[in-house]
Amino acid sequence: MIDRETVQRILDAADIVEVVSDYVTLKRSGASYIGLCPFHNERTPSFSVSRAKGLCKCFSCGKGGSPVNFLMELEQISYTEALKRLAKKYNIEVKERELTDAERQQASERESLFAVNDFALNYFEHNLTDTDDGRDIGLSYFRERGINDWAIKRFRLGYSLPKGDALYRAATAKGFNEKYLFDTGLCAKTEEGRVYDRFRGRVIYPIFTTSGRVVAFGGRILQAKKEGVGKYVNSPESAIYHKSVEVYGLYQARQAIAKKDRCIMVEGYMDVISMHQSGIENVVASSGTSLTEGQIHKIKLITRNLTVIYDSDAAGIKASLRGINLLLAAGMNVKVVLLPEGDDPDSFAQHHSSSEVEEYIEKNSQDFIAFKTDILLKGVSNDPIARANVITDVIESIALIPDPITRNVYIQECANRLGMSEKLIVQQCDKLITARRDKEALKQAKEAAARTLQGLDQIQDTATQTQEIATKSESTEQDDAIFLAKFERAVLRYALKYGAVEIGDEAYDQEGNPMSITVIDYILGDLEGDGLAITTPLYARAINMAAQLLITEWPAARDRSEERIEQERREMWDRGVAEIRDSGCSVADIDRREKELQARCDEMVAQARDEVAQHFIEKQLASCDDDEIRRLTTDLVSDRYQLSKIHTKHAHIETEEERLYSLVERAVYELKDAVLECQQRSIRRKIKDLCSQEGYNPSEVLALMQENKRVTEIKAEFAKFLGERIVAPRR
Ligand code: UTP
Ligand code: MN
Repeated sequence: MIDRETVQRILDAADIVEVVSDYVTLKRSGASYIGLCPFHNERTPSFSVSRAKGLCKCFSCGKGGSPVNFLMELEQISYTEALKRLAKKYNIEVKERELTDAERQQASERESLFAVNDFALNYFEHNLTDTDDGRDIGLSYFRERGINDWAIKRFRLGYSLPKGDALYRAATAKGFNEKYLFDTGLCAKTEEGRVYDRFRGRVIYPIFTTSGRVVAFGGRILQAKKEGVGKYVNSPESAIYHKSVEVYGLYQARQAIAKKDRCIMVEGYMDVISMHQSGIENVVASSGTSLTEGQIHKIKLITRNLTVIYDSDAAGIKASLRGINLLLAAGMNVKVVLLPEGDDPDSFAQHHSSSEVEEYIEKNSQDFIAFKTDILLKGVSNDPIARANVITDVIESIALIPDPITRNVYIQECANRLGMSEKLIVQQCDKLITARRDKEALKQAKEAAARTLQGLDQIQDTATQTQEIATKSESTEQDDAIFLAKFERAVLRYALKYGAVEIGDEAYDQEGNPMSITVIDYILGDLEGDGLAITTPLYARAINMAAQLLITEWPAARDRSEERIEQERREMWDRGVAEIRDSGCSVADIDRREKELQARCDEMVAQARDEVAQHFIEKQLASCDDDEIRRLTTDLVSDRYQLSKIHTKHAHIETEEERLYSLVERAVYELKDAVLECQQRSIRRKIKDLCSQEGYNPSEVLALMQENKRVTEIKAEFAKFLGERIVAPRR
């Protein structure tokens, strides 16, 4: 949408301190600024902003990032939208592609839909409290159900008059184009062409986005049950309403969820409202349907902890287990509460005080393992096959949990509960994970092949190869991958944090001259020299992007800064010379002082250059349009335990670069050592496999043993190297 050059200009201009200051009052604290985190409620400031790094981060909730990322998360807007806001702030003209006309049209269409919804919202609200019909029918219905004025206002409940087209008339009289009344689904036409209000004669539950814009409505009939009429009617999908990504009540519950760091999930509109009214405000609804990934994503932006409340008699519990799997796969921590027989959250909240409800939830929260096994084992009794099916089902859920540590906790729990060996469950899980990973890999290979290669047969080839490799892989290779990733991450941190910085002195070219080399080139070159590369896909992508930036963007950026630095140097020099001249000192003194001045200027230049190089890669990647890379970069470079300042004020730059050099060198060695370790593990696995076969060939085993010895020897060399170079501990 926005051309690359403009994007770069915007990113260059955006000052993190200024951007954050629009939302947060910042106070200076050493080299950075600090304030109250805008992403969660807190009393003592833990939101730190560093101008030099161009980053902000909350050390309590972890949110933050580059200026773009900060705006995206805080305002819940897209990458492009965030760029546009920054452009506006810094008076940068945004040139968009030709498409703009269509896009602008689209944007204004959306605005029109919002406007007509907004009108309807106020209109329905007004009907409920300020018309006789509304008070007699709508309001008295809410009263009967125990809903008070506070809740009515908070959820902006309303009433649609029973008269067939009252809204249509009111809206068109106000000048709204009927097109938007139909597009939002507020009104519709019968086959005969008669216009009617979709929600006529119903009480209204507006549906808001997280940022509080009304995108849709639900309307409930007032009678208990009516043949052939749905209890609820909801707005249809439109350009502004996508059912699968909206969460009912999230707007009203947002702050409470953040504060409690937990979201409670119920089924219906009324459940949410009654819970809020009783004082428990971190409650949202899935609106009857099963949860979607989009909905989970919205919640996950605020908390990872979720409690699902079920009616004990809900027929749909079994069906809803799939929703739990989605939650687990999304990395959410899931708890489940069953209500007493005959209650739903609405009735329970209406009949109990908030502390009673809270206590009930507290006491009856089960983790999903307990819940799932209980539900599934009901009625299975002692049928061993049915029991085995249940166990498989539970293990399938556990295998979905992305974080290995959390997964392990559940494996233990499952083992205790079902009286099974932990090892067996681990094996089972690993199998499932491997199978899933293979499927993923296969899918990715197919996609990649489809993108880059032409011709069907080529695609087929790649896919089959991957499948071959994939089916051969063993469960413990997964552990190795996790193990390796840790070391790759450490190396990557240097690449992203100091990528463009030149480290030198200890590196020599073929003629033996010392030469400077950027951190990234050093890392990639060193690994390549040993036939290695970063293997974790995300990390590989990140370092490749960084290397690419070094080629495409860095030279120009360096030149730009060079001009600025040269100007600063000249000013410093001129000022210094003028001072010397005006001081009226002797010729010998002038000479000495000029030399000093020269040295000071040189140091300033070196420091300024270093500063620019130091933050170049991280600034770029922390602002790029790839969500994963952006997050990764922010995480890596803002890690506060890292040796933060390579730069201390008065120390010499050379010695610091030396330090950086040895740090990077060490990290790369440690990674290589880890690779060897994995090779060794794999050899041992092979040996074990071989030996477990009957009538194996001893010479094959011997060959493997020798291979093992060779790796052990290289490892010993590494150990010596690593032992000799003690670097200040990094943590
Ligand atoms: P419920 O029937 O539990 O609704 O359906 P409720 O909110 O508790 O309503 P009351 O207590 O009967 O007034 C749960 C949710 O499923 C959706 C609605 O979002 C509802 O809140 N639903 C249900 C529909 O969309 N259409 C229907 O016909 C029924
Ligand atoms: Mn209900």
